[in-house]
Amino acid sequence: MSTKLGKRLALIAVLVLAPMTLAQPSGELVIYSGRSEPLIVPVIQFFQQQTGIKVTLQSGSATALANLVLQEQPTPRADIFIANDAGTLEFLKLKNALQPYISEQIKKIPEQFRARDGSWLGVSGRSRVIMYNTKLVKPQELPNSVFSLTDPQWKGKIAMATTRNESVIAWVTALRLVKGDAFTKEYLLKLKANGIVTLNGHTDVRKAVGRGEFSLGLVNHYYYHVELRDGSPVGVIYPDQGPNDIGVLVNAAGAAMVRNAKHQREAQRFLDFLASPEAQKLFAELNFEYPLLPGVPTVPGVRPLETLKLMPVRLDELGQELEKTLKLLDEVGLG
Ligand SMILES: [Fe+2]
Repeated sequence: MSTKLGKRLALIAVLVLAPMTLAQPSGELVIYSGRSEPLIVPVIQFFQQQTGIKVTLQSGSATALANLVLQEQPTPRADIFIANDAGTLEFLKLKNALQPYISEQIKKIPEQFRARDGSWLGVSGRSRVIMYNTKLVKPQELPNSVFSLTDPQWKGKIAMATTRNESVIAWVTALRLVKGDAFTKEYLLKLKANGIVTLNGHTDVRKAVGRGEFSLGLVNHYYYHVELRDGSPVGVIYPDQGPNDIGVLVNAAGAAMVRNAKHQREAQRFLDFLASPEAQKLFAELNFEYPLLPGVPTVPGVRPLETLKLMPVRLDELGQELEKTLKLLDEVGLG
């Protein structure tokens, strides 16, 4: 996780958010966030309105910020770390850089979406789906499994994000855990032989499928919804949903308190806030994601989490497998 650190640090920007309330200022909180700012700033502003706590937000690449959290121990500048996937949070937990916290509100988030010991909390869910261009693929041709993507009919017609992307890495780890290392390596080699193209990120994938440059794209489900909102002819497949199939991976964006955080009370309030119905509703509305607090609805048009068959992995299993997955991906050389 330390490769490319220098380059990625250049992308980090700092934003101080003034409380939008006349309430007495009551404490401070420093947040490092790997989420894109439009998806987290409204949540933080809402928190400031409710609490009067002054938040300093530093946004950037989740990997670079995770490395910064590690470097700053044992006197961290950040109180809270936010990541787009559970793997990065688990990575920090295993390096002993997180401070466990569990409350009655946090316990309402299902166990599979948070660390067993309270080190981190999943705040919104995203599933790995296949999006397709409806002008290029007929309904009867649609694949219903990720394992059909090695079929010659899709040669050169599939795009995915680079295997350095955290969501892709988590998906490969989940495949390893469910299907084994040998099977997973062979599957990825077959995808490579079938001419799958890796692009810089998921936004490139959704746009390329939307423009008709590729028939299929492997993405997180919200990229399909964003491309549809942009007016492109796209559809979505939730793969591997049959009785003998492996299910889809649902990963979580999440947050954690940093070990030795200076503002522990404020950090606890922030984590409780993220698990609250109000914040959960906001997460769902901002990015088509699944709220993880039971009872909070997904936005209309998004297939609810309860209707999906999920891959049988706990998100806190993914972090300790990271090194092995990176090694396997190196061997496969998908790009
Ligand atoms: Fe994303």
